[in-house]
Amino acid sequence: MTSASLVKEMDRIRSLRLFQSTEKLDEDPVEFATSVGITPDPWQADMLTSDHPRKILCCGRQVGKTTAVGLLVAYRAITVASSEILIVAPAERQAKRLFRVAKHFWRKANEPHGAVSDALTRLELGNGSTIEALPAVENTTRGASPTLLVIEEAAFLPTPVYHQLTGSTVRTEGEEIMLSTAGFKSGFFYETWASDEDWHRVQIRSDEMPEHISPEQLERRRQRMPKEFFEADYLCKFLETTGGLFGDDDISRALALGEDVEAIEIGDDEW
Ligand SMILES: Nc1ncnc2c1ncn2[C@@H]1O[C@H](COP(=O)(O)OP(=O)(O)OP(=O)(O)O)[C@@H](O)[C@H]1O
Ligand SMILES: [Mg+2]
Repeated sequence: MTSASLVKEMDRIRSLRLFQSTEKLDEDPVEFATSVGITPDPWQADMLTSDHPRKILCCGRQVGKTTAVGLLVAYRAITVASSEILIVAPAERQAKRLFRVAKHFWRKANEPHGAVSDALTRLELGNGSTIEALPAVENTTRGASPTLLVIEEAAFLPTPVYHQLTGSTVRTEGEEIMLSTAGFKSGFFYETWASDEDWHRVQIRSDEMPEHISPEQLERRRQRMPKEFFEADYLCKFLETTGGLFGDDDISRALALGEDVEAIEIGDDEW
């Protein structure tokens, strides 16, 4: 056997093994996570294994929200044929980032089912599942009927857009996942969080996850941000809307300050 054909044969055997293990993973999203290089934190494992169709994550920055939901998106697309997964966020860049994280995990799993099409914001698998990222502005999602709707940075999405989006999941009785840091005490994200509606709820403050954001880094952030914004971004405390506490400049500055903790790296893979 030539070395080229040997390499090819090894690839074939490897993909067979991974395919078999993917079948086994149908039962266990935590095992899936581990197989793609993530040992889920306990709250991530709870969320991954919860069969509640509505999940809301109101958490501090850097606790692992996007990673956990990216895992779930990849897992659903792989294990439930013909899933239609829509990822939306106030800005396209945020939706694309979660999309890239999910695609990264699908790749790490050795691309189960293969890709029928693979574009910057849309992935279609051989089992008929699709994952698509869109900015959430009015009308972008009209006509979509997702089986799983993911709303990234949900506290910053206008309420009318939210209602339009969820109109589409009502038709399919699809799953819904909202993830965000706390925003202002108004709008659908706050109202859902504060309501007694039945949701799988996750609240993890950034200071509860020192393995992802160090106490020193957190302290630097605290010193550089207005107190209320720090508490919203890192400690899950919603901002008061009354009294005009902040001007637009404060808000843009605080949001911009948050940007540079975005970098995400797991091992030396590209996302
Ligand atoms: N279970 C895990 N094991 C190891 N690293 C993890 C795990 N979960 C998340 N991380 C790492 O922690 C960091 C933050 O993760 P992630 O971006 O998912 O958090 P986030 O809550 O979405 O952050 P942000 O608020 O900035 O959007 C990343 O570097 C990610 O790779
Ligand atoms: Mg995130």
